[in-house]
Amino acid sequence: MLYIYIYIYIYIYIYIYIYIYIYIYIYIYIYIYIYIYIYIYIYPCVFLADLSIWVPDRQKIVKQLYEYKPPLKGLDSDKVNIRKTREFKDNPLETKRGIPTIFAITPTYSRLEQKADLTRLCQTFRLVENVHWILVEDSINKTALVKRLVTNCKVPCAHLNAVTPSTFKNVPGKRKLPRGVAQRNAALTWIRDHVDPKEVQGVVYFADDDNTYDVRIFEEMRYTKVVSVWPVGLIAGGKFESPMVKDGKVVGWIFYVGAHRRFPIDMASFAFNVQLLFSHLKAEFKYTVPSGTQESTILEGLNVTMSDMEPKANNCTEILVWHTRTQSTSLINQPKLQEKFKTVNFDLEV
Ligand SMILES: *[C@@H]1O[C@H](CO)[C@@H](O)[C@H](O)[C@H]1NC(C)=O
Repeated sequence: MLYIYIYIYIYIYIYIYIYIYIYIYIYIYIYIYIYIYIYIYIYPCVFLADLSIWVPDRQKIVKQLYEYKPPLKGLDSDKVNIRKTREFKDNPLETKRGIPTIFAITPTYSRLEQKADLTRLCQTFRLVENVHWILVEDSINKTALVKRLVTNCKVPCAHLNAVTPSTFKNVPGKRKLPRGVAQRNAALTWIRDHVDPKEVQGVVYFADDDNTYDVRIFEEMRYTKVVSVWPVGLIAGGKFESPMVKDGKVVGWIFYVGAHRRFPIDMASFAFNVQLLFSHLKAEFKYTVPSGTQESTILEGLNVTMSDMEPKANNCTEILVWHTRTQSTSLINQPKLQEKFKTVNFDLEV
């Protein structure tokens, strides 16, 4: 009997010993480590991030805390290092150092006129120093046509793809849905992931592939402090739309349609300092806003007000960008042409 009591006593003693000295101590150590991690590392980083002060890994930490988004297809295959691409040796135009980079974001989709439009845009960029083109295809995979074009273009380029979700594809006859949302957001994500805001000065501009650009517009926008704005020609059924400027300040907008917009301006009419993307990590385009309000959505996301706007193009008195549209090509005579020239290979890339 006594042996049993001793046995139980020893058993309980050992159990308590193990529990106190191992189990509890491990818990205490884990808690201490977690508290040290949160109070010494994460909280200061988030706090500094809110004050727009850059800290190492800030982006990663803030994203982990409250910014998780499913990864976009195709982004990882293009891990282009911005510092490397700025030293793009083959490009004789990429020589001038110490001037801000222009991150030109172009959504594009496959169509008969795509190569012509992109060729013209590429050649415009070749006349501009320190452009980093971010070209985003609306496709499941990057196409061979655009890959070849980017290679031949010699402009430093991040070639990405982000497919428009099928629920947001435009259907003829139905209400028009916003275009380019997934693609422009993929480009913003690329900048946030690949550009070191401590090292790079620059501006972000949304340069659609069918507009016409006077190269002087890029020099106008290059030193943008917050957001710069200017007129756009041949738009919305009028000769131009423009910011209204008084005494060198933006005081309103010259436009006719779409008064529901907070900023009634076109995508081609503004550029903003790249640092804003890092101080406003949630700023992005959205499918769920009324049509025509994509520009307002991103500018509101960047917490911009009218008093932040810097009028460019000689106080908005010059048109340096045009909202031109490429007419879609009719192939009405193609069958007859092929009938007439039976031995000609018409499968050439156009
Ligand atoms: C714009 O207008 C303001 C005020 O009239 C003037 O001070 C400034 O020099 C003008 N800017 C340009 C580029 O002409």
